[in-house]
Amino acid sequence: MASATPEFPARLRRCWHPVAYAHEVTDRPVAVSLLSEAVVVWRTADGRAHAMRDLCIHRGTALSLGWVADDCLVCPYHAWRYDATGACVRIPQSALTTIPARARTPVYQCQERYGLVWVCLSDDAPAYPLPEIPEFESTGWKVVNTGPFGWQADASRQVENFTDFGHFPWVHPGLLGDPDRPVVPDHSVEIRDHVLHYTIVRPEAPNSDEFPVFANEVTERPERRSRYELHLPYTIVLRLGWGGTKGMVYFFASQPEKANRCRGYCIIGRNYDFDDPDSTLQEFEDVIFGQDQRIVESQRPDQVPFDLADELHLRFDAVAVAYRRAIRTQQLG
Ligand code: FES
Ligand SMILES: [Fe+2]
Repeated sequence: MASATPEFPARLRRCWHPVAYAHEVTDRPVAVSLLSEAVVVWRTADGRAHAMRDLCIHRGTALSLGWVADDCLVCPYHAWRYDATGACVRIPQSALTTIPARARTPVYQCQERYGLVWVCLSDDAPAYPLPEIPEFESTGWKVVNTGPFGWQADASRQVENFTDFGHFPWVHPGLLGDPDRPVVPDHSVEIRDHVLHYTIVRPEAPNSDEFPVFANEVTERPERRSRYELHLPYTIVLRLGWGGTKGMVYFFASQPEKANRCRGYCIIGRNYDFDDPDSTLQEFEDVIFGQDQRIVESQRPDQVPFDLADELHLRFDAVAVAYRRAIRTQQLG
């Protein structure tokens, strides 16, 4: 199997990364990019998703241009067939009955969870499990997929932006923040293994008429209570509420496609407003992520600098500082 690409630490290959919404992978193979590796994702008839290197050993054609037949992926050039173990099981041009052992393509670990297809490029056991989100498996919650959001930025930048408190009043005024209350309340971050835990009660904008997606009924100086888990390297579980029983779960994961390219998946659960069409939240997040995109794509360097001396950090940047430290400790950057 190929070694780490120079722009990514090898340990990132031992992590689960999302590569597609499950509904994007139907009866045809799909080409995705993960850590600069070309990967093809496809399904066998039992519905199981599989991931393998998107390269035919014969002449280097992209297998994702081919098709699925008899639980095999068929190369579009000369119709060699690869089964789900990556072995070539049919070479139509050859009269030989034995197929050379080298006729195969590497397969990657693949699983489907939370409506996403996840891939781990390493043959070794994945370094961390996926987060547990019992709300998404409960009938008391309705789940909506938003995005995906493809940005010209490193996944670390997209993740950091999702959890950055200081920008809400300025980038999302009236939607997520209030420019009259820009001070970030104190919060502390606890790092346990590969997960950052932190909670913040922060000022937010009143629920807007345009996008009435939140359950805050206070119109003067409303506040939002948010409990975060940032799972290294690029996944966030955010549980938020307003002091009552209504709550939301934001599950955000960024796919590191290339060093300067990522694709974010934002899955939102709510225990209220079940009749609201999915499009309300989807259009809301299109606006929010659009507001963030132009900022984050302008950031230099493309990747978050994990050396603390490279930037200026103040007290309210506690999450950013902890993220940099934990990424270094876990040898992920
Ligand atoms: S290039 Fe794939 S079968 Fe020839
Ligand atoms: Fe934002």
